[in-house]
Amino acid sequence: MERRIKYDKTLLVRSDDTEGIKDAAKHLAGGEIVAFPTETVYGLGANAFDSEAVKGIFEAKGRPGDNPLICHIADKSQIEDIVSEITPLARKLIDAFMPGPITIIMKKSDRIPSEVTAGLDTVGVRMPSDETANRFLAACKVPVAAPSANLSGSPSPTSAASVMEDMDRYIYACIDGGDSTFGLESTVVDCTGDVPVILRPGAVTEEAIRTVSSESPEEAGSLKAGDVPKAPGMKYRHYAPVAQVEIMSMPDKVKLINDDFEGYDVTVNTDVTKPDFKAMDDDAKQELVDILSPFIFRIRQILKDKPLARIGLYCGIEVKLLIEKMDDKIILSHTEIFCYGNSADVRAASHGLFAGLRHLDMQEVDYILAQGFSGAGLSKAYMNRLSKASGGMGQIAPGMPKPSRPARRELPLDHFRDTYTSSVLFVCDDNTCLSPCLEAVMRNLINGQAPYRLRDDKDIGCELYAESAGINASTGASPDPDMCRVLKDTLGYSMSGHKAMRADPACYDANDLILTLRDEQAFSITKAFPRIKDKVFSLSTFAAANGIIFRNEDGKIAAISIPDPRGENEKTYEHTVSALKAWLELLFPYILKQLGIERC
Ligand code: TXA
Ligand code: MG
Repeated sequence: MERRIKYDKTLLVRSDDTEGIKDAAKHLAGGEIVAFPTETVYGLGANAFDSEAVKGIFEAKGRPGDNPLICHIADKSQIEDIVSEITPLARKLIDAFMPGPITIIMKKSDRIPSEVTAGLDTVGVRMPSDETANRFLAACKVPVAAPSANLSGSPSPTSAASVMEDMDRYIYACIDGGDSTFGLESTVVDCTGDVPVILRPGAVTEEAIRTVSSESPEEAGSLKAGDVPKAPGMKYRHYAPVAQVEIMSMPDKVKLINDDFEGYDVTVNTDVTKPDFKAMDDDAKQELVDILSPFIFRIRQILKDKPLARIGLYCGIEVKLLIEKMDDKIILSHTEIFCYGNSADVRAASHGLFAGLRHLDMQEVDYILAQGFSGAGLSKAYMNRLSKASGGMGQIAPGMPKPSRPARRELPLDHFRDTYTSSVLFVCDDNTCLSPCLEAVMRNLINGQAPYRLRDDKDIGCELYAESAGINASTGASPDPDMCRVLKDTLGYSMSGHKAMRADPACYDANDLILTLRDEQAFSITKAFPRIKDKVFSLSTFAAANGIIFRNEDGKIAAISIPDPRGENEKTYEHTVSALKAWLELLFPYILKQLGIERC
């Protein structure tokens, strides 16, 4: 269905804005589309009793109408309005797992229009455990039909920033509830018969279902040609990044962490234990080497065939630290790492998967090597999404364009004797707003001006990269949704998959030039790490060092000063982006000079 821009902007409602949530709920009940957080992924909701409103979801999503939607509720008493029969099996699962990350398929009632169920006589019911979701759904006072809030063919959104990137101006409002706890969509279980049939694995695992059902759950098998799919969504390929995704195996003897669902307490521990390599015994060390080896083996193999390839890693902290410890300049300069938590932590890996894929794809890597798991519980849901992302299953929904990205201007490989890599790091405080913006602007500039070569040896080509980090960042935090939206609008650049990274010695070492937003930040870095002082500047001192002097209206020398736009209006954001863009455009030739490279 053709998408139409419907609003000047989509309202972004904070989760503590009670009036804003009430207003969004009122508009949803009146026929508008509103995105809301849940503990699995964000949903794109409409009044389930209103067939015209429901059609609006398909339009906003660009999704074929033959894929049924789930009805979301705030209270179990609403189930009776949606279904015509609750089987004893359904009752058991409702009692055991609702509210929580499960969708139960039952026979639908006449009140639910066929637009919701795509003509099926069954309907999926889900009661999220997320507190903001519950408050919003209660305020709606009607069941809310909602698929995941991504554009068809994109990964399910796990933050408001990801939703806004896909939906801004197409829907009335988006409620920002922070990062989704699980990060993978709910378990879908058909409970219309005596035997539970798992149509989509999720955080409520087969094992958990077995504890309450007298019959062992069945899994919906893979489809043969001509079969009518039980969960119609199964026939379509879900998000597949532009990069080629490959799954790296986890050695069998490693004991997985958090591979189960423990009732209603659905917190994900995002604290990462940094491994203490020195305190480890030989067996533990060998285990880490076994986790790391498939990554290193595959990176070397890829680079042997394609020396310019860029490789994204979706891996645990142990793998990241070991790769940094190896200090292999070639590997370091060709990889982008998205770290989800501890290597064996399945819940952390599930939590970060969609955000990680979005992020690595945005970094324009050619390959994504992702940690695989072989466990049963939650590993199954994780591997199900990962194998879909690797293009293993399904077809692209009719009418959906194949994912593509603008062609990158490749360095003419045979043109050069050798190639070299250079990178710039932008540092601010929390790495969620201004430094990601600098990174985005810089990447835009870099791509627009490529290719490059060394200034003092013109036979050597150079690839140039930019990244960002924050001195006080909480690693993994999502970027500011307003900044993402303005970057998308002004540069066409996606930052929603960005995850904050804490600036540390390893990232200082991996970069050739470090530019901070403010003078104090450059000062504190050089104070802590005097040995890198020659490559650390604030934007102002870098400009001054290159003879660029700014004067204010009184003719006095002024520093580059960019206030934090958060909490300000859209115009302030636009000004911020255009100011940072203007600065970087001005400084770009000097940055090249500092790095010893030039445009070819
Ligand atoms: O966690 C979730 O389930 C999220 C959040 C927003 O609740 N929602 C979600 O919705 O993932 P969606 O539409 O992206 O996926 C729902 C899946 C689809 O594969 C769909 O085919 C299946 O559930 N489904 C929905 N109703 C069904 C029905 N009556 N019979 C069989 N499958 C159904
Ligand atoms: Mg979906």
